[in-house]
Amino acid sequence: MRRKIVAGNWKMNGSSELVTKLIGGVKSELSAVDKGVEVVIIPPALYLRDVQQEAGDSGLKLGVQNVSQYESGAYTGEISPAMVADVGAEFALIGHSERRALFSETDETIAAKVQCALTHKLTALLCVGETLDERDAGQAETVVCGQVERALAGVSGDSWKQVVIAYEPVWAIGTGKTATADDAQQMHKTIRSLLEKLDAPADTISLLYGGSVKADNAAQMFSQPDIDGGLIGGASLKADDFARIFKAI
Ligand code: 13P
Repeated sequence: MRRKIVAGNWKMNGSSELVTKLIGGVKSELSAVDKGVEVVIIPPALYLRDVQQEAGDSGLKLGVQNVSQYESGAYTGEISPAMVADVGAEFALIGHSERRALFSETDETIAAKVQCALTHKLTALLCVGETLDERDAGQAETVVCGQVERALAGVSGDSWKQVVIAYEPVWAIGTGKTATADDAQQMHKTIRSLLEKLDAPADTISLLYGGSVKADNAAQMFSQPDIDGGLIGGASLKADDFARIFKAI
């Protein structure tokens, strides 16, 4: 059985006030969701504890937007996977396209982050996706498969259980342009076939779609056979919108 996951990536947005308002609103809608669905909040790390406190025993899960590939030590500004696990967060986004493009994260760094996150029993939520130029050049599948293969090269055995992949076409992020459900399904199917070739338990690995997911397109995305949930940016900042999305799964 694959995990059903809807995660809200707040990016660099939020405040103490937003935490109270948003988590209060989200919590009140959780009873409408199937028990098996994991609803995850991924706030700026500074607000993790506040979100956790506000979430109480609601069942909301927590994640971070980035982790270090190092264990501990002289790495000013970094947060280690061990620290993330220590405060009770379970998910680490790794390789988001904004980190690749704006903070020069390479496939090599991303692979090291995945390894470190897995060592500390976090769920590594690996983000992959092509740019518009790459799609227009007919390179989308090659680019995405390359990213998956290089990031997960060191994963084996039971560690696969902690891997989740989010396909987020770069041109669909924050633009209001969503991939069609057919195109998204096609890419998810391609990723699953690649996982099989890599000897991963492909049928058990959850694949999420991200990129302008909204309340009115979520149900169609989530009904695709290879799409197991979503990674939501802008729409996760409003309790009503986010709730309508996670209730659509
Ligand atoms: P939007 O939902 O705002 O397009 O962002 C998607 C995303 O980047 C989630 O990680």
